[in-house]
Order: sequence, then C-alpha cells, then structure tokens
Amino acid sequence: MEQKRTTALPPEAELERQMEFIQQIRKENEAYTAKTGRQKKFYSLAMGCQMNAHDSEKLEGMLDEMGYVRTDEETDADFIIYNTCCVRENAELKVYGKLGWLKHYKKENPDAVVALCGCMMQQDSVLQTIRQKYRHVDLVFGTFNLYKLPELMKTREESKSTVFDIWQEHQEVVEDLPSIRHFPYKASVNIMFGCNNFCSYCIVPYVRGRERSRNPEDILEEIKKLVADGVKEVMLLGQNVNSYGKTLENPITFAQFLRQVNEIEGLERIRFMTSHPKDMSDELIAAMKDCDKVCKNLHLPFQSGSSEILKKMNRHYTKEGYLELVRKVKEAMPDITLSTDIIVGFPGETEEDFLETLDVIRQVRYCTAFTFIYSKRTGTPAATMENQVPEDVVKERFGRMLDVLNPIVHEVTQEQVGKVLPVLVEECSKQDAGILTGRTEQNTLVHFAGDATLIGQIVPVKITENKTFYVIGERM
Ligand code: SAH
Ligand code: SF4
Ligand code: F3S
Repeated sequence: MEQKRTTALPPEAELERQMEFIQQIRKENEAYTAKTGRQKKFYSLAMGCQMNAHDSEKLEGMLDEMGYVRTDEETDADFIIYNTCCVRENAELKVYGKLGWLKHYKKENPDAVVALCGCMMQQDSVLQTIRQKYRHVDLVFGTFNLYKLPELMKTREESKSTVFDIWQEHQEVVEDLPSIRHFPYKASVNIMFGCNNFCSYCIVPYVRGRERSRNPEDILEEIKKLVADGVKEVMLLGQNVNSYGKTLENPITFAQFLRQVNEIEGLERIRFMTSHPKDMSDELIAAMKDCDKVCKNLHLPFQSGSSEILKKMNRHYTKEGYLELVRKVKEAMPDITLSTDIIVGFPGETEEDFLETLDVIRQVRYCTAFTFIYSKRTGTPAATMENQVPEDVVKERFGRMLDVLNPIVHEVTQEQVGKVLPVLVEECSKQDAGILTGRTEQNTLVHFAGDATLIGQIVPVKITENKTFYVIGERM
C-alpha cells in the first residue's frame, strides 16, 4: 500500500507524534518478551557514505527506544533494515544480492520484518523492481522521511501489505531524533542535506534533493549536547560543506561557522567533509589555520586531473585551479595532509587525460585516496555521453593509478614515523584486546599496546612502524 504523506506538522509536533508510535511498539515488544522470554532483535546495515552511516545511527536509536536489541547476525533478526546506496552500480547489486538471500530467510521466518531505505529507494526503476520481484520486502522509504520509521512500522503491522513511502523533497528537518552513536567519543553531525552541484556523473542530487543547511544554533546545540555526553571529536557532514549557510535566512559562511564550533568548550577535534574545490575560499583556509581544534587534514576530491574532463564533469574548476588551491592550503598549514576522491574512465577520458590525473596524484601527494571506476548512472548527463571508455582500458588505467598512488601513500605515512603524535583512542583491536586503535589528527589509523581504560582519551603515541594504510606506535 502507499502511505499517505503525513500532514505538514511543525517539526516538534512531528517528533512527538513519532515518539508516540515508538512507545506503542515498545509496549508490544515488552508484552512479547513477557510471553516468550526473549527480546526482539534488529539488524541494521548502512551502505555507502557517512551520510548513510549517520542516518542509520538515527534509525538504530529509534529501534532501541522501541525495545529492540541490536544483533550483528542477520539470521538472528526479527527486524532487518538496509540503508542503501546507489552512487555506483556495485552498491545496487549488493542490495539485490541481499534481497535474493532474504527471500529464503522470510520463508523460514515469516514474522521477520524487512525494511529498505536510503538513496537507492529514491529511484522509480528500483521501486518497480521491488514491486515486481521482491514482494517479500515489508517496508520501503527514502532519504527525506527516515524519521517516520516508527509510524511506517505501525502502518505495516496493521495493513499486512508492503508499505511504500517515498518523498521527492525535504520538508522541515525533524531535530532531536533518538540516535545511537557507533563510537562513544566521536560523532557525525549533519550540517546540511542534499546537493545542488549536479556533477554530470553523479546520482546524489537526484536522490538527496536540493541543498539545505541546518540552522547554526541547532547544530551548535547538538554538538554541545554531544560534548556533555563525552564526545571529543565531531565530523561535520555535508555533500559540499563549503557552501554551508548560503541559503539560510541569516546567511553565514562555513568559515564563520567553523570558528563558532571551535569555541565549544570541551570539544577537542573538528573534522568536516566534503569540501568542493570550487567553493573552497581563502576565508575558509584562514579559519582552518586559526582554529586550534580543526584537524589539519583535508578531504578535497579532484575526480580527474584533466581540465577537459573536469569541464564535462561539470566540476567548475581546472587542473591548474585545483593545484593552486592545494598550494595555498599547504602554504597556510605546512603540516596538513590531504585525501581525495578520483574517478577513472569517465566518458571520453583519453590516455592524455588519464596522465593528467596521475600528475595531480604525484604533485599533491595524498595521504589516502578513494579511487573509483566510473559507473554509469541512468538519469545523469554522463550516462548518455558518447565515447564511454571500454572496460579493459579502464581496468588497466585503474591498476596503473594504484601503482602510482600506493607508494606515495606509503611515503606520506612514512613522514609520521619517529614523531610523537596525539592519538584519540577509539577501541580495542578486534583480534587482540591488549592492542588499542585510534587516529592522529591527520586521520592516520594507529595501533599500539595499551589497556581499555585509555579509550576516549587523547594520548601521545610515538609512531614506530609504517604499514601504509595504518601505523604501529608506542604510548609515550
Ligand atoms: N559530495 C562529495 C562526494 C559524494 S559521492 C563530493 O563532491 O566530493 C563520493 C564519491 O563517489 C565522489 O567524490 C566520486 O568520486 C564518486 N562517484 C560519484 N558518482 C560516481 C560514479 N557515477 N561513478 C564512479 N564514482 C562516482
Ligand atoms: Fe555528487 Fe558532485 Fe554533489 Fe558531490 S558535489 S554529491 S560528486 S553532485
Ligand atoms: Fe551516500 Fe551513496 Fe547516497 S554515497 S549520499 S549513500 S548514493
């Protein structure tokens, strides 16, 4: 059945309404436990980027309030929720693989409830496929209405048929949803939603809607609450944080906002992602430099080193412009490390274009890079461009790129060896409880011997060994 959109209630009333549904489900779950002696369990999987990971923290917070306990075993769950991604084809294939498996699971466990949400569900073609082929799914919603989970669960329970509720745009942001943080000492905070950039390869603007900033007061309030709850590090999230605040009633720049966050007492580290090079201002570079809590680590995707390809990608900067920006950033903060995103095999990419990409990698010297093979996304302008690059050519270039990139990553990491760096201790290693893992300000993963009482503290660690994608250290 199609769920009717709820009336446009003010956000506070909407929150209250959902909390009521949560309480109703909680009572039912308590009755179930009293009868059976067992608590209902949920399994939650977030695919894709940190936005989705953070959204899932809210979904999990609501399920927790409903009295479900988390399980890491899908085969043990009464409620299964996949928060899907569609940025590349393989992300979608993974979901369909899971749905095939779930068909069998539901046959054996007919009472289990399966929910799908997130970016992939914002596409009509996907909904059609689910309607036709995956009728065992119980609940489908998108990126704009995740706060409605409790209500949709109730609707499903009463209707006994699949509930679809997909919106095309944001309404008011519902603040203060319950949430479970994956780490007690670091937290993600949305500062904006959606994207207006329409890079020609990218599906995100179509599934996440138009750009929209949260009010600075609401965000500062949220961060203060997190700090009071023990959080030391925040990651400010948005598809293009550099354009934060432009459309607010009282406009503010991201740089000004960063300075306000830096004032929060008790907060120790600030990170943000993603920065679009076209909107990275001198004002922001100055703010990063001045703010002692801002980690000197910048994720600055360049996607391609060829100005020609960048134009076709609709990125609004050139290779030279990007390199000049990096020069200014490094000049202002000599210790900064940079990471990036790169796409290989965009339509029309020639060998020369690809060599320009390698040149940027060599010149900038990244501490890490997320590298992707171009994936055609139906509905985006690039999908219908001529000269799609043959698969074997793309694979060959991708391999060559890693051959250039990995030694550089190793060398950049090597620069940390011998230094004593502050590390925020995150957790015990899964393999060995005597080994702790944490991150430096540069976001390098560090393993070192120590006991669990250090978790949540920032401690000095001497870096002793370089393992390319992480380092080994000794506590000082
Ligand atoms: N808003 C962020 C990134 C969001 S998506 C930004 O602009 O940097 C994360 C990354 O996925 C992108 O940076 C890009 O490198 C990659 N990506 C997006 N669409 C893709 C596609 N169709 N094929 C391959 N990679 C893609
Ligand atoms: Fe996609 Fe470009 Fe928006 Fe990033 S900035 S989400 S790559 S359209
Ligand atoms: Fe993120 Fe994937 Fe959506 S990258 S915004 S979860 S399409």
